[in-house]
Amino acid sequence: MRPFSMQLDFRKGELAPRDRTNIRKLSDMKGMFLDAEAERLILEKENPVIYSFYERLLPEENGHLQLATTTIHPGKIGDEYFMTKGHYHKRSATSEVYLGLAGQGCLLTQTVGGDFESMVIKPGVLAYIPPYWGHRMVNTGSTPFVFFAVYPGDAGHNYGDIESTGFVKILVERDGKPLFIDNPRWKKLG
Ligand code: PA5
Ligand code: NI
Repeated sequence: MRPFSMQLDFRKGELAPRDRTNIRKLSDMKGMFLDAEAERLILEKENPVIYSFYERLLPEENGHLQLATTTIHPGKIGDEYFMTKGHYHKRSATSEVYLGLAGQGCLLTQTVGGDFESMVIKPGVLAYIPPYWGHRMVNTGSTPFVFFAVYPGDAGHNYGDIESTGFVKILVERDGKPLFIDNPRWKKLG
């Protein structure tokens, strides 16, 4: 492979040139938000885009890196903010860096044993996610929340564990402000 450069639009989060645009709508995240009735009522009328992410496809090999940018739209399902699905890495002993580019949000991280850590992410805030920590981003603002991610080429994604338990904590809006509540569906896998 030859070295290359790309253009990254900090405001929209778009990478150019890119190979893949992934669009996650509410119907792709069924059961991930706590308020099932709010989800059902919204889906009766529309199927909102929750987030999009843009990738340049690189070899899924040790030694390479994967690059992606994500834009989470502002909004809520019930009182729970729009968020990514979240995942552990398939090769769980791999790490990741997230860098905030626009808007404001929160990074939720956890281990399968239930150790939990959150961080506020704004433009210029760089977060290091160590090996074994699952990660999800949440848009707590009223504008698109944009961030860049870089991780090992062969890390892969494990969505299944998060689909079955969710995260330890859930971010909801109360009195106009973000508030963590315990996730009743959470259970330890480790
Ligand atoms: O690699 C990452 O962690 C990110 O690029 C995410 O894949 C992206 O933000 C989309 O989130 P998810 O993969 O949890 O749907
Ligand atoms: Ni990741």
